[in-house]
Amino acid sequence: MRLAVLSGSVYGTADLVADEAVLRCRDAGLDVSRIQPATVDALLDAAPDIILGCVSTTGMGELPDSFVPFFIELQDRFPLLTGKRFAVIGLGDSAYGDTFCQGGEQLRELLVELQAVEALPMLRLDASETVSPELDAEPWLDQLIESIKPRA
Ligand SMILES: Cc1cc2nc3c(=O)[nH]c(=O)nc-3n(C[C@H](O)[C@H](O)[C@H](O)COP(=O)(O)O)c2cc1C
Repeated sequence: MRLAVLSGSVYGTADLVADEAVLRCRDAGLDVSRIQPATVDALLDAAPDIILGCVSTTGMGELPDSFVPFFIELQDRFPLLTGKRFAVIGLGDSAYGDTFCQGGEQLRELLVELQAVEALPMLRLDASETVSPELDAEPWLDQLIESIKPRA
């Protein structure tokens, strides 16, 4: 099982969560490509079975600036991801109300439009609730690993 891990971050937290996810997934025996910076070519070249996106939210529900070129390129080129699975970790702050984790939600919706199938409901990491999002992601990552590892 090949996993590609992407991240979009303003202050580095989503990158950190992604880096920790890479280590955990490699420890579990998955073949992991860390794609950074995110580009559509790098993603397609990695030919992943599963895509994990870790993205924070900025502005009023927007994607981090550094992630926007990738997102727009993905929308424009629209490479169908039929047969691939994906999962998203959204980082945000519930104090922002309706726009909580909207960056992650935008990525989720685009991957669904590209016909990828969500392997696990999006994990929402709330900066109002935690100071260690990379640790909080561990149980969800273990569930993801369990759901994607080939059965013996
Ligand atoms: C200027 C600014 C705007 C933000 N806007 C939102 C928002 O609209 N929705 C949300 O859920 N979180 C919002 N956040 C919270 C961040 O997404 C959250 O702190 C996240 O953990 C940052 O991750 P990063 O370090 O990867 O950028 C905002 C934070 C800042 C500083």
